[in-house]
Parts: sequence; C-alpha cells; structure tokens
Amino acid sequence: MAHLSVNIDHVATLRQARENVQYPEPVSAAMIAEIAGAEGIVVHLREDRRHIQDRDVKLLKQVIQGKLILEMAGTSEMIGVALDIQPDVVTLVPEKRNELTTEGGLDLILNKASVSKAVSTLHDSGISVCIFIDPEPEQIKIAHHINADMVEIHTGTFCDASTSSKKERAFSRIVDAVKFAHKLKLVVNAGHGICYNTIKAFKGLKEIEEFSIGHSIISRAVLVGMDKAVREMHKLVKEL
Ligand code: PXP
Repeated sequence: MAHLSVNIDHVATLRQARENVQYPEPVSAAMIAEIAGAEGIVVHLREDRRHIQDRDVKLLKQVIQGKLILEMAGTSEMIGVALDIQPDVVTLVPEKRNELTTEGGLDLILNKASVSKAVSTLHDSGISVCIFIDPEPEQIKIAHHINADMVEIHTGTFCDASTSSKKERAFSRIVDAVKFAHKLKLVVNAGHGICYNTIKAFKGLKEIEEFSIGHSIISRAVLVGMDKAVREMHKLVKEL
C-alpha cells in the first residue's frame, strides 16, 4: 500500500503573508497530518526562504514521529543545512528564484557531476537521497548510476494537461518511467500537482511507494475548515 507524504509548504506561505504573525504554525499542521495518517512530512527549504524557514525544519525534526523529507536544491548551503538537521530523506530538486513552484525535474544529463557529489556527501552522513526527475529513461538511468536511493517521478505534466489526449500521453510516460525505475531497484515515488481527482489515475500502479502531495491538501484544508473557523469568530463577535 502506497504511503502519503504531506507537503506543508503552503501553511508557511500563509504565515509569511503577514509580517510579525506566527500563525498558522507549520509544525502544528505537520502534527495533525501525522495524526490523520500521513507517513511523511515534506518541506521545501528554498534559497529565498519564501515559505519554510530553517527553524521550521529544525522543529519538525524534533517533533514528528514519521519520516521528515527535506526538499532542497543541491547547493553547498543546503547540503550544510541537511547535514546539520539530518532529515530522513533529502529530495534534490531544481530551483529557480522566479518560479512559483518547482517547474520540472532535475536535469541529470546537465548536472550529473554536481548531483553525484551531493548524493555521496549526503550518504556519508547517513541520509537517504531521492532525486526529483521527469519521467524519462535517460534521467532514471543516471539516477541509478549515481547511486540515488529513490526517484520521485514528476507528475505535473500529467496533472496539468489540458486535454484528455495530452493527459493519456503524459500518463503513459509516467507508467513506463515508474516500471523502468522499479526494475532498476530504485524506490519510486511520485509527486507534483496531484489533486483529489488525478490521484485516482494511479490506482493499480503498485510500484509507486509514496505520493508527495501539498497544494491540493492545503487548499482543501482551507475550505473544509472554513465553516468552523467562521462559526468560532462569529460567536466571539456576538459575545462583544
Ligand atoms: N514534489 C516536489 C519535488 C515538489 O517540488 C512539490 C511542490 O513543492 C511537490 C511534490 C508537491 O506538489 P503539489 O504542492 O503540487 O502537491
């Protein structure tokens, strides 16, 4: 049975939207996600610290009971953070300053030497390494060659496809990639853009061990929590 890792970056995005406000607390969101059954908590510590902060990752390492997965660029600064905090898994992702979210997989053809060095430094410190890649055989071959423990197959093209034929084509690339990576004995994860509809397409694709899902869950949390939140404030206003 596949695992669910919940990406809580956008809880931090809400907090960072206001200066000098300490809510919502991402660590509290992580605790609730764990109580609800999530096997892992994912945070992306970006170079610009636009949402998750270093202190969040340090606190999460202390309090969560399941797996802590740190998404990061393979820069020397981030490798230093990972060696210090010791998450269970580091997922290496590409990072561009002006992107709204991670736009594609890490290109291992272009970045093989630097990613390989990052993998071995993290391994030396006992941290498992996952690489976020597009569903392409060449990328998978290199991930295997440089000793990655896992690959996370980028599902964004499938999830965002605007027509059913584009969706079908994108999904068949995912299926081929998942099976190929599994054959090479890589642990296979998947993520990006998965929502309450698109998750259903993955039924039966047993090779996927873990789904990493963030935006759709945090978006739904806002709506399913709206009624209660308004009722609580409404009561306080009526009590004035
Ligand atoms: N996997 C990776 C590598 C990501 O960068 C992200 C987004 O931070 C996710 C999964 C989760 O994507 P989403 O927020 O669209 O569910």
